[in-house]
Amino acid sequence: MGREEWSSTLGFILASIGSAVGIGNIWRFPYIVGANGGGAFLVPYLVSVLLFGLPLMMLEFAIGRSTGMSVVSAFQSLRQRFSAAGLAIVVIVSLILSYYLVITSWVLAYALFFALNRPVDFGAFTGSYLPLIFFLLSGLAVFLTVRSGVREGIEKIARYLIPALVVILLFLVAFSLTEPGALEGVRFYLSPDYSKLADPAVWTAAFGQAFFSLSVGMGVMLTYGSYLKRGDLFRSASIIVVADMLIAILAGLMIFPLVFTAGVDPAAGVNLAFVTLPSVFVEMQFGMVLGALFFLMLFAAALTSAVSMLEVPVATLMDSYGYQRKRATLLVFAAVMLLGFPSALSYTALKLEIFGTPFLDLSDYAFGTIGLIVAGLILSIVGGWYMDRTRIYTEIGGCGWQQRVYMVLIRYCVPIILLITLLGSLFQVTG
Ligand code: PHE
Repeated sequence: MGREEWSSTLGFILASIGSAVGIGNIWRFPYIVGANGGGAFLVPYLVSVLLFGLPLMMLEFAIGRSTGMSVVSAFQSLRQRFSAAGLAIVVIVSLILSYYLVITSWVLAYALFFALNRPVDFGAFTGSYLPLIFFLLSGLAVFLTVRSGVREGIEKIARYLIPALVVILLFLVAFSLTEPGALEGVRFYLSPDYSKLADPAVWTAAFGQAFFSLSVGMGVMLTYGSYLKRGDLFRSASIIVVADMLIAILAGLMIFPLVFTAGVDPAAGVNLAFVTLPSVFVEMQFGMVLGALFFLMLFAAALTSAVSMLEVPVATLMDSYGYQRKRATLLVFAAVMLLGFPSALSYTALKLEIFGTPFLDLSDYAFGTIGLIVAGLILSIVGGWYMDRTRIYTEIGGCGWQQRVYMVLIRYCVPIILLITLLGSLFQVTG
């Protein structure tokens, strides 16, 4: 059997948008903007997306398409000894998935609670064992999608869920902007405080957010690129990047007007999605419907991202170890559920904590922040320095001055920026 393929470039673009648009856009981006200088944050964010995120995404597509293989085998084809580095990336993305699924499962639960007109207090919900059931359910949804294959699973759900997500988001934004607190919310969200740009922490926050939100540096885009045969990579990557940014910005435009209308704390940080917003919905007219729509949209975003993460280890088992898709998916699914169990338990009555920090938060820091940067570093160095230059040029359409600039970005700027971000993130915790 030949390698699976997307049915069209559009299918590939939608699946990649599905991967990029996730909890990172709708929940994380707005609160990070709020905490890092409002509108001024858009400057470092745009810089990191355009100068570092986009080139890295193109590099991943180029490696994937030109080798026609997923991370480990692709690395191995560049240099035999790089297979361990490839494996490290696969492990990191699986670990990220293990806790990402826990948050996905909370989203699913909240969508259901609102749809049933039974909003639940976050502490009471996570303190019960109910989250474990939802953890299993969302894991199953991801498992079944990936098991159905590239075209019939991954591409198909993106074709339905991404347009649906956009429609719901536009509706919610339109609704929020007509609320009495809209102006104040938008002002808080977008009015720039440029003095913040002098703070290096704001820049590292922007880099980290950009890489996470675009799903780059983790072999996801490499794997998706390996199912692609032709097409202009710059054009596809640009569409994906712009869509990802627009959705993140729109998410803030729906959230802050609601928060200000209700008069609750806009800087609630991570509590924004599961504590602040639900409390706003509960007080509002049509709040149950709006809440259900919001969490359904968030679930669609999270599901298509989780699917892309699961595809990385699954494709690795298929390419490097000759597994059939169905067996590979089952194996990885079981492993990820086991790995995610401590995170799923960390907010329950069991309170799985290490040094007083919930296991989930620890995973987010260790894998989602540090691990992600390390994986990105490996990818940019292996791809940028060890893949034949002419091969990259062939993939990205020639060797004019744009491609030469691109080469400098990918070989020097991206690794250096990732290194700085890594040091910044390590320092943040100890400093
Ligand atoms: N980009 C996704 C989000 O914004 C998260 C993700 C990270 C997905 C890494 C795949 C790989 O939520």
